[in-house]
Amino acid sequence: MLVEKNAPLQPYNTFGIAARAQTLVRVHSVADVQALLSDPVLRDRPFFVLGGGSNVVLTGDVKPLVLKVEIRGLRLVAETDKAWIVEAGAGEVWHDCVAWTLAQGYPGLENLALIPGTVGASPVQNIGAYGVELQDRFESLDAVDLATGQSFTLDAAQCAFGYRDSVFKHAPAPSEARGGLPRGMGLAGRAVITHVRFRLPRPWKPVLGYADLERYFAERGGAVGPQQIFDAVCAIRRAKLPDPAVVGNAGSFFKNPSVSPEQCADIIARDPKIVHYAMPDGRIKLAAGWLIDACGWKGKSIGKAGVYEKQALVLVNRGQGADSVTGGEVMTLAKAIETSVYERFGIRLEPEPVVV
Ligand code: EPU
Repeated sequence: MLVEKNAPLQPYNTFGIAARAQTLVRVHSVADVQALLSDPVLRDRPFFVLGGGSNVVLTGDVKPLVLKVEIRGLRLVAETDKAWIVEAGAGEVWHDCVAWTLAQGYPGLENLALIPGTVGASPVQNIGAYGVELQDRFESLDAVDLATGQSFTLDAAQCAFGYRDSVFKHAPAPSEARGGLPRGMGLAGRAVITHVRFRLPRPWKPVLGYADLERYFAERGGAVGPQQIFDAVCAIRRAKLPDPAVVGNAGSFFKNPSVSPEQCADIIARDPKIVHYAMPDGRIKLAAGWLIDACGWKGKSIGKAGVYEKQALVLVNRGQGADSVTGGEVMTLAKAIETSVYERFGIRLEPEPVVV
């Protein structure tokens, strides 16, 4: 366990926002987490768990103790004729984990290539792309209860996955803010994920239903194996989404909203070109990027916060280093976008990242 005071967080958030942690603790093992929780000075402070920092907007210096999870390790834990079960430490870089599984001959995560962030963050927001969501490949996870130091395991049902959502995004009920772990309730701020296990089904089947992928293979032809899908997803993402190492960003800034068929029909009557998809539950999903684009935001900026030129759903840092965007500027731009989308379409957009 390494404890740093007044630690810069700019290298640890993909937006590249310049903020500091009053106290940053790096943990490399479950034992490190437990040592932290028995430390008489540190254990009673509120915690903020930081993974790859790919889904946060820092609006100032962070007062809660920042727990940076650096637990490593990738291994096959079981193999049956139905699936490979692979386990990864929460601190592994997500994309490296995807590449490792493919190199070892355990395909199934290829549609999720190049998503920024760490393995530990992947179940928190149930990451998803190109027709696959984490919940489709999830077996179980291990976490430590920050109130008691006890380790526990959750299966998929206990994680309560939804669209970019899980039990880890919801605050515990106020009556349960202290004391035993509120199982099945919100776990935000209450637990730190240490390991995640994936179930990769055998025989492997390609998932190609997503329009961009279908188009990619229709244009090129040839074999469609896991490596080709991995390469295709990387190529599509690189063409559409900014590389956080070059232009700071947190991926999609807003969730794609869903509306009733009646609301959708009403919008289509006014805007026939609106991009919409029917969902299995009967609701209609709208493309937030399209809504923002339609309001004329693509390429626009407020201060150093900008809307990416090639994908209006992504907000970017137009500054750098000490001159970076502030979390306040990002949120001002986000609010302005929310207001114009609401005024034009009557739809309230909901941000995807956690605002700290
Ligand atoms: N569109 C526009 N203008 C824009 C952006 C999008 O008209 O500026 C239209 C596109 O033409 C398309 C539709 O909106 O018809 C949807 O766009 P796209 O296929 O790029 O996907 P998305 O809905 O914008 C979602 C995820 C991404 C994921 C892709 C691929 C969310 C919030 N975002 O984006 O996830 O990579 O699908 O599956 O669900 C992330 O969460 O950080 C992320 C990048």
